[in-house]
Amino acid sequence: MNASERLIVALDVPAPDDARTLISKIGAHAGVWKIGLELLFSGGADLARELADAGQNVFVDAKLLDIPHTVERATANIAAMGATFLTVHGHDIKTMQAAMRGREGSDLKLLAVTVLTSLDAADLEQQGSRMSPADLVLHRAKLRKEAGFDGVIASGQEAAQIRQATGRDFLIVTPGIRPAGTDVGDQARVMTPTRAIAAGADYLVVGRPITQADDPAAAAAAIANEIDAALAA
Ligand code: C5P
Repeated sequence: MNASERLIVALDVPAPDDARTLISKIGAHAGVWKIGLELLFSGGADLARELADAGQNVFVDAKLLDIPHTVERATANIAAMGATFLTVHGHDIKTMQAAMRGREGSDLKLLAVTVLTSLDAADLEQQGSRMSPADLVLHRAKLRKEAGFDGVIASGQEAAQIRQATGRDFLIVTPGIRPAGTDVGDQARVMTPTRAIAAGADYLVVGRPITQADDPAAAAAAIANEIDAALAA
């Protein structure tokens, strides 16, 4: 995989046409287009099919969490769309096993959401968890590996520990990426592209630093260059 193929752009925009504009500007500087909840409910599902039919890699960031029957059927429908990645927001083995059944016979890769990168220790305490974000991420990452998932979503700050605990064949996909000098926004556990790759991330998810840049193509190219340099180092 080259550096651009490891760059996932979060298309967090209001409508498919906004996404198409961004995709045509960014082009081959990124390898995967992530369609999240905002876009999914404004025509993003059709856009996902259109991109997959055109041979592009699509990441459906649906963060599924429901009873097993519903998760299984939803996963099967997303696999049939031709998506490459799907996130499942399960905190339990039943949800993950349901997603595994739903993707049978397809090439869909399942990624588990561990702890949202916008949450810090105080937020987890408010949820009733006594674990630190790092410990909870690691605990959930091990559970996902047992369930047979392809990988996890985790902040760069936890990537090294997850890599150590899960081995080489487990995908680590890292959002909360902020190149030096860019706005942190609502993210709490951020990291630069260089540090995230050095920590063991396979793919980086980048939204606003690219989508809200004056020149999205240049911003994506700069991050791809940073990934390239980090891989070489
Ligand atoms: O704009 P920004 O780079 O912060 O976007 C990050 C993207 O990654 C968003 O689409 C967000 O939904 C997603 N994400 C995240 N943290 C997770 C899982 C997904 O930020 N744990």
